Amino acid sequence: MSKKYNIAVIKGDGIGPEIVDEAMKVLDAVAVTEDINFNYKEYLLGGAAIDETGVPLPDETISGVKASDAVLFGAIGGPKWDTLPRDKRPETGLLGLRKAMGTYANLRPAMVYDELVNASSLKPEVIKGVDLMVVRELTGGIYFGEPRANEGDRAYNTMVYSVEEIRRIAKVAFDIAMKRDKRVCSVDKANVLDVSQLWRDTVEEVAKDYPEVELSHMYVDNAAMQLVRDPKQFDVILTGNIFGDILSDEASMLSGSIGLLPSASIGDKVGLYEPIHGSAPDIAGQGIANPLATISSASMMLRYALGESDAADRIDNAVKKVLAKGYRTQDLSEFDATEVCSTGEIGSIIADYASKK
Ligand code: IPM
Ligand code: MN
Repeated sequence: MSKKYNIAVIKGDGIGPEIVDEAMKVLDAVAVTEDINFNYKEYLLGGAAIDETGVPLPDETISGVKASDAVLFGAIGGPKWDTLPRDKRPETGLLGLRKAMGTYANLRPAMVYDELVNASSLKPEVIKGVDLMVVRELTGGIYFGEPRANEGDRAYNTMVYSVEEIRRIAKVAFDIAMKRDKRVCSVDKANVLDVSQLWRDTVEEVAKDYPEVELSHMYVDNAAMQLVRDPKQFDVILTGNIFGDILSDEASMLSGSIGLLPSASIGDKVGLYEPIHGSAPDIAGQGIANPLATISSASMMLRYALGESDAADRIDNAVKKVLAKGYRTQDLSEFDATEVCSTGEIGSIIADYASKK
């Protein structure tokens, strides 16, 4: 009997619709081989939602995603909506969705495909074999802290973390480390910030429950430097919302293109699976966007949300094969390409590989 999953799909803005279409193409391919039935339902978020409904996060989207088994998401935002007041902006919609779904843990793996060691701006010997995971707290910190205001002649935001918020994200990081190389590096700014001192103390407490995991601490400025100096020293990086936002963009470039890396946002119940890159409005609609990050996000969705690891393996192997054979989208066309493909072409090739035994 075929398994049935309800997938909420949020295509979003810019390149969002193009890359999500390719991920769905690949999901449909593995659905056939693995006897899975995906029931997709589309919801609006960000600019597309503003245009259609006047708000960046319609209520229907919140109730729809909560009733689904998992959410596949593209990207939001663009210059068209940049001048709107903050509460009407696409980004506010995404933050609201994360909060409403309770997805407090953002997992951002950064790995370097052997086939692309030359694509990074760093030397091959520095990045070959990099395989790290940024665990970013996603529903707290300075993104959400009160008080916040723009008073015209001054403005402020507040970085707030409670022990409970720190504890639950730390547990996620330690649990992941147990399945990896058992090393957690917690990144903070405890030499300056009170909130970081609480972070550090709380992470130390949580670490007592994980005697097998080696815990280290690093200041965020040093971590930013170490990530490009010697990224292989890291296994799991545990950090707060804004530091994780910055460090995960930095880590993504180890792989050569921000168009390659997926992410999972998990927490209370339903998870959100999305590429780590943005909506790239400058290249939208041209068929040149790299869909690999979104396709890999669909694989994470299969693995973590639906427990369909065979289907996920199929996708991961197909992505590796496509890269090994030299199929490249334009962002990577200078790196050992045998053929430069459009967004749709590379999606079809991956779908084809994923559906073969
Ligand atoms: C990300 C993005 C978002 C963030 C923006 C679009 C609100 O940069 O997912 O990393 O800062 O979290
Ligand atoms: Mn970001």
